[in-house]
Amino acid sequence: MRAAALASEFGTPLVVYCRNTVLARARAYARVDPDALVVYGTKAFPNVALLRLLAAEGLGADVSTLGELEFARRAGVAGERLVFHGNNKSDTELRSAAAAGALVVLDALEEVERARAAGVRSVLVRLTPGIEAETHRAIRTAHAESKFGLPPDDAIAAVANARAAGLDVAGLHVHIGSQLSRADESVVAVERMVDVARRCPGWEPRVFNIGGGLGVRHTLDERVPEVEEFAGELVQHVRARWPQPVRLILEPGRSLIGQAGLTLYELGAVKGTTAAVDGGMSDNPRPQLYGARYEALLANRADEAATATYRIAGKHCESGDVLIESVQLPAPLRGDLLAVPATGGYTLSMASNYNGVPRPAAVLVADGRAELIRRRETVDDLLRFDPDQG
Ligand code: LLP
Repeated sequence: MRAAALASEFGTPLVVYCRNTVLARARAYARVDPDALVVYGTKAFPNVALLRLLAAEGLGADVSTLGELEFARRAGVAGERLVFHGNNKSDTELRSAAAAGALVVLDALEEVERARAAGVRSVLVRLTPGIEAETHRAIRTAHAESKFGLPPDDAIAAVANARAAGLDVAGLHVHIGSQLSRADESVVAVERMVDVARRCPGWEPRVFNIGGGLGVRHTLDERVPEVEEFAGELVQHVRARWPQPVRLILEPGRSLIGQAGLTLYELGAVKGTTAAVDGGMSDNPRPQLYGARYEALLANRADEAATATYRIAGKHCESGDVLIESVQLPAPLRGDLLAVPATGGYTLSMASNYNGVPRPAAVLVADGRAELIRRRETVDDLLRFDPDQG
């Protein structure tokens, strides 16, 4: 579909997902190990239509709050395909995870007793192997002092305590970080997980959950491995180090939907080499949070050659609201459509209403048709939270 048609039908900013790209990614994961359970990292974008699309391909969901759990349940994801995470789960969350039949990932020693009391039956224990993944520090999760999971000795104690409490300890979990561009650190992590499993007396895992983390390519100078390459290497290593039968769980978020989504903005004010879009840090805070870089093109003039380097600013009331520091474009004009590729993951899910800006809509495009999968917010939606305005 043409960007101009999408913009005029659904407005801008608009997040446009390609259904076939999502499906291709899901199938790539399924090919890596047809017996594995692949659970979508719902936090990348909690959305019923996307969860349903993935569920129809046999994927489950990794959820970490009541909200994400409810999105997955509304999409019809079965309990045995739900993995419930969180470094600070409330008792209500533990009870809801238990009622949904989810596999709960224990993240702390004190959680063993609380999980039992909440009626949880099956658990994994999250290992923190002490690896500083090469990615932005805010999205590393397995370094020493991480708030997530348990270092090896504590993980071994958690397995023993959980078994003593009558919980079914199905296996172990590890996830070292997000937007990863190399597999070797993750290989070390899964090897450490296997070592920990060996050190648990009188217990053998049925499940190894090897997490998510594979990045997507946002800019032309970035390189990330293919799904088959990255996940394939991890799976091979686990199988080589642990020849006994064991089921694998994979938890990709961004690598399922990131590349499949682009954001369409309309350009407004152009001052010298700075052009402003009709959104910015409220629909994509990743440049501010992680120094994220993106490419862009003028979707309505995609066949024109770039003539200069431009900075893309947002419409918010602060100078740091810059979406792209530097991008080559033909001279942009008010009314042009700017497409920012590879923005399908962790954009809308982290969007805010800063400056009273309603959050964008999202559509899923396939076979020349676009389906609205998230409606655009309105100013009335925002006012509804003020008690005397609702
Ligand atoms: N499993 C666990 C336990 C996780 O914590 C995460 C992501 C995933 C799986 C999925 O990771 P992925 O395959 O999407 O990398 N807001 C950040 C990303 C935070 C990731 C949080 N955990 C960003 O915009 O880069």
